[in-house]
Amino acid sequence: MIEQKWWHNSVVYQIYPRSFNDTTGTGVGDLRGIIEKLSYLETLGIDVIWLSPVYESPNDDNGYDISDYQNIMAEFGTMVDMDELIVTAKNHGIQIVMDLVVNHTSDEHPWFIEARKSKENSYHDYYVWAPNNGQIPNEMTSTFSGSAWEYNQPTDEYYLHLFSKKQPDLNFDNPKLRQEIYDMMNYWIDKGIGGFRMDVIDLIGKVPEKMIKENGPKLHDYLQEMHVKTFGAHDLLTVGETWGATPEIAKLYSDPKRNELSMVFQFEHMSVDKIPGKRKWDLAPVNFILLKQILAKWQTELGEQGWNSLFWNNHDLPRVVSRFGNDSEAYRIVSAKMLATILHCQKGTPYIYQGEEIGMTNMPFATMDDYRDIEAINMHQERLALGYSEQEILRSLAAKSRDNARTPMQWDETQYAGFSTVEPWIGVNPNFKTINVEASLNDENSIFNHYRQLIALRKAMPVFTYGEFTLLAEQSETIFAYTRTYQQEKLYVLANFTAETVCYEDVNLSCGEILLSNYTDSKIKTQMNLRPYEALVILIKA
Ligand code: GLC
Repeated sequence: MIEQKWWHNSVVYQIYPRSFNDTTGTGVGDLRGIIEKLSYLETLGIDVIWLSPVYESPNDDNGYDISDYQNIMAEFGTMVDMDELIVTAKNHGIQIVMDLVVNHTSDEHPWFIEARKSKENSYHDYYVWAPNNGQIPNEMTSTFSGSAWEYNQPTDEYYLHLFSKKQPDLNFDNPKLRQEIYDMMNYWIDKGIGGFRMDVIDLIGKVPEKMIKENGPKLHDYLQEMHVKTFGAHDLLTVGETWGATPEIAKLYSDPKRNELSMVFQFEHMSVDKIPGKRKWDLAPVNFILLKQILAKWQTELGEQGWNSLFWNNHDLPRVVSRFGNDSEAYRIVSAKMLATILHCQKGTPYIYQGEEIGMTNMPFATMDDYRDIEAINMHQERLALGYSEQEILRSLAAKSRDNARTPMQWDETQYAGFSTVEPWIGVNPNFKTINVEASLNDENSIFNHYRQLIALRKAMPVFTYGEFTLLAEQSETIFAYTRTYQQEKLYVLANFTAETVCYEDVNLSCGEILLSNYTDSKIKTQMNLRPYEALVILIKA
């Protein structure tokens, strides 16, 4: 049995501050806006807020390009507000997990301003350089399109940027740089935060000469050092964003014996609706059997030697009800609850992304002018140049753009969805009059209340956190079903992923009791007709 930790049965809620709640009438969310909504989050029952970056930043990538790790972005407020948020959240039983973006800084960070001046500058080696041999150093590409190398005239070199050219990559091979990062982390730990979400942490061991991005040879040495020098002595939640992890690699990060991170946040299940081997923009229908296989693999293969995050959404992903559910008027609510059920009854730490708990949908952006994200804008340019049609590009963006997740939180039916009193930095989804927090709180059958019940069940019964997982009906094209077993208790979790009624047969169900369902009149039978998107959690006691 794995040693129990507080973050095993915690539920994390991710806030993207720019789009959460604006209290200053700027069209941009702020820290006081979060403080104002802490009671709401306490009602939902979450334990932890993962706060997307709030540090000083020129916002080339909405705060993931940091120019000062120890100051707050003026648009969001001040350090006084931040300190108040940490303390007030604690009074609501909520820990704040900070987003730690240390694979790169902004090019406006004082380190880079110095580093690029000359090869002799004491900060030069904080970043990753390659000599100018008359051509770009190699074929490495940026996640945001184009080469990962940018020429720097004063030193006649190229610097590496795995993201935008305003996000130069840091050189973790430099011990002085590592110490600066640890000092900065300790500054935040001393403020009483609950931990760190570590942005693209799998890239810090990169070896550009060998074209190695993820999982470089020194990666785990650096994480073990970081553990010793920063959070190791504190009981914090540390979660690594690890795009390329397999279960084997995930154990390297999260085996408690290795003293690295609490858990991984890996994306394998997010690859089931693209053409295999291609980019996320190359759309394919959802491969449902593959989705089940991947999720089940992660449930069983970590064993006692690792811990996983459970998520459908974050600030980089489209809205799940539009993606794997059904966002039509008839089925949005029931399918959003079904998706929540299938996710939250698995083993791992569940994450809810702002708005997911009220079933927010993808945004019907009309033209390219409506998009704000650098990734979308660069991809549009790149694909136009490659000969794709405008229509094709817009279709990919409609399905996968990160801006789908970044539209303002829908609080009520007033103008701008109660997010702001002025026009927000990005469009509000026109469906806010029906999909909003106020309406959800007033409806006992809302998606919000379904999430609340899932969280409450997790708190009440250890089988949700520690139960052994077994996939059922593997080859079913319509049903996702599994069991969780812990001591004398066994859960059956059944979900119909389609808009048709489908039959599920299991003799073991006869002596079960329904803990939760997304229909008010679900009944247990050994031969069950599951209605569109029907999902049930059934308890069987030995
Ligand atoms: C991570 C973040 C994403 C950001 C990128 C670069 O993937 O989640 O939003 O653009 O890293 O920091």
